[in-house]
Amino acid sequence: MSDHNDVPVRMRADVLSVPAYRQGAAPTRPGYKLSSNENPFDPLPSVLAAISGRDDINRYAAAAMPDLRESIAAKFGVTADRVHLAAGSVAILYQLVHAAATTGDEYLHAWPSFEAYPSLGLASGASAVRVPLTGAAEHDLDAMAEAITERIRVILVCSPNNPTGPAVRRADFDRFMARVPATTLVVLDEAYREFVTDPEAVRGEDVLGQHPNLVVLRTFSKAYGLAGLRIGYAVGHPAILSAAATTAIPLSVTGLADVAARASMMPEAQAEHDRRIHEIVTRRDALVAGLADLGVRVPQAQGNFVWIPEGEHGIDTAALAAAFSESGTLVRPFPGDGVRISVGERESIDEVLRIVGAFLG
Ligand SMILES: Cc1ncc(COP(=O)(O)O)c(C=O)c1O
Repeated sequence: MSDHNDVPVRMRADVLSVPAYRQGAAPTRPGYKLSSNENPFDPLPSVLAAISGRDDINRYAAAAMPDLRESIAAKFGVTADRVHLAAGSVAILYQLVHAAATTGDEYLHAWPSFEAYPSLGLASGASAVRVPLTGAAEHDLDAMAEAITERIRVILVCSPNNPTGPAVRRADFDRFMARVPATTLVVLDEAYREFVTDPEAVRGEDVLGQHPNLVVLRTFSKAYGLAGLRIGYAVGHPAILSAAATTAIPLSVTGLADVAARASMMPEAQAEHDRRIHEIVTRRDALVAGLADLGVRVPQAQGNFVWIPEGEHGIDTAALAAAFSESGTLVRPFPGDGVRISVGERESIDEVLRIVGAFLG
């Protein structure tokens, strides 16, 4: 937190009082970086070839990016006017909250959830309302429905939930949506949807058509491994997306990101991504099983990460995170709540289990 007295010019006190988004720690020595839910595979050669051939970076990209929007629209079975691109899906979260909620309004989200959520309303003056997860680290959709008031303009549903892992089940989502006023925007944040294996989990494609107040968010950062290029998208009602675009910083999606995303969606690239996703899911499940063998039970892991809750098997997660860091492997501690471990390189799985095993003595 900043000290107001140190600021040389007049700044907003509410902004100064909130810490900036904190990125997962980066390694300072050789080791595994399991702190940011990144994709451990190197970029696909076809994607690298596509971006290295660009000789026009002296120009602004054509912001509409029709080809990419068409490809995404085809995947969702919608028209391209229902697809909105931004420099990461996190940018669209800000845009939507900004576009829908102002001073005196509120937006609702589960907690613990994506660390960016609490500050999404800062720019527009909207305040966040948090609803605690259930004991199984899942969204408590009944409690969230009960928390809806006239002031709530946006509801964020994170599935699978970062950092805890469970996906929202379709039946629960349907019941929830039936309780949400049609005038309230619901954002289904599916940054990790490609890793979901629970057949009962909600899937944006299947529910979008029924709810004009629903926007689905996806990203190229995780399953597609383009985190460093910053590109994500929203699918939903054109009027909602157009309002999001109004609040967007112009021209922030780069031509490189557009080209890389299109190359990633080519059939051969998609097939390789599917193989990699399958491998990450296999590693995730091996990690969950290995932790269970150590007596550590984790919530249902449906993303590319695993969550060890504070107190599980008597674990003090701050001490566990310190043990990881001493071993050169970085994970993401959420003080008082738990520790999130991203699924990384194949060898990292055994290393994680070794560190947790040694920690437990
Ligand atoms: C739940 C969730 N939503 C959105 C994002 C943002 O991803 P990006 O901005 O890279 O698309 C993240 C990133 O970690 C996330 O965990």
